[in-house]
Amino acid sequence: RLDFQLAPSILSADFARLGEEVDDVLASGADIVHFDVMDNHFVPNLTIGPMVCEALRQHGVTAPIDAHLMVRPVDRLIGDFIDAGASYITFHPEASDHIDRSLQLIRDGGCKAGLVFNPATPLSFLDYVMDKVDMILLMSVNPGFGGQSFLPGTLDKLREARRRIDASGFDIRLEIDGGVKVDNIAEIARAGADTFVAGSAVFKARNEADPHRYDGVIGDF
Ligand code: DX5
Ligand code: ZN
Repeated sequence: RLDFQLAPSILSADFARLGEEVDDVLASGADIVHFDVMDNHFVPNLTIGPMVCEALRQHGVTAPIDAHLMVRPVDRLIGDFIDAGASYITFHPEASDHIDRSLQLIRDGGCKAGLVFNPATPLSFLDYVMDKVDMILLMSVNPGFGGQSFLPGTLDKLREARRRIDASGFDIRLEIDGGVKVDNIAEIARAGADTFVAGSAVFKARNEADPHRYDGVIGDF
C-alpha cells in the first residue's frame, strides 16, 4: 500500500486569514500545504509568491510546503522559494529553458524537486531525469483556476507514470492536481497516485455551523 498524503491547495482558502486556514487544515489531518504560484503569463491568473510562503513559515507552519510554480521563466523564483522555506518545488517543463539545470538548482538548495505535466504534456520529459526528480505532478485540469472538473484521461496517464516510477526503483511521489473530490479519490488512488491536491473540495466545503473547522471534510477523504 502506498503512503497516501492529502495536500489541500490554499488557492481556495480565505486569503484574508491564510495562516489560520492553513493551521486548521493541518490540525484536521492534512499532510502537505499545496501552494499555487501563478504569474498571469504561463497561466491566466495571478496569485501569491515567496513572501507569502515565508510568512507561513514565520506564522509557525512546519508541515511540508509544496510550491507548484506556474511561472515562466522559473529559475530565479526557484532561489526565492528555497529561501522562503519551500519543501517541494515543482515546475512545468515548458516553463524552463534547461530542465536538468532547474531540477539541479532545486536539489542544490536542499529542496525536493518535481516536474509537472499539463494534460497534453507527454511524460517523455522524464526520460533522462528520473534520477533527478522527487515528485511527479500530473495536472488533471488545465492549470490556472480551482474548481474545474477532473479530466478522465488523466487516469491512464497516472497508470503510465506509476509504471515508470516502479520501473525506475527511485523514491518518487506521484501527485495529482485538479478536480480531486471525495467521490473520485479512490479511483485516482487505484490508478497509482499517492499524493492528492484538493482545493475547492476542502476549502469550499466548510461546515456551515463552524466554518473554520475542517475535521469532517478532511476525514471524508
Ligand atoms: C490549478 C491548481 C490547483 C487548484 C486545484 O491550476 O494547480 O492546485 O487549486 O483546485 P481544485 O481542487 O479546486 O480543482
Ligand atoms: Zn497546483
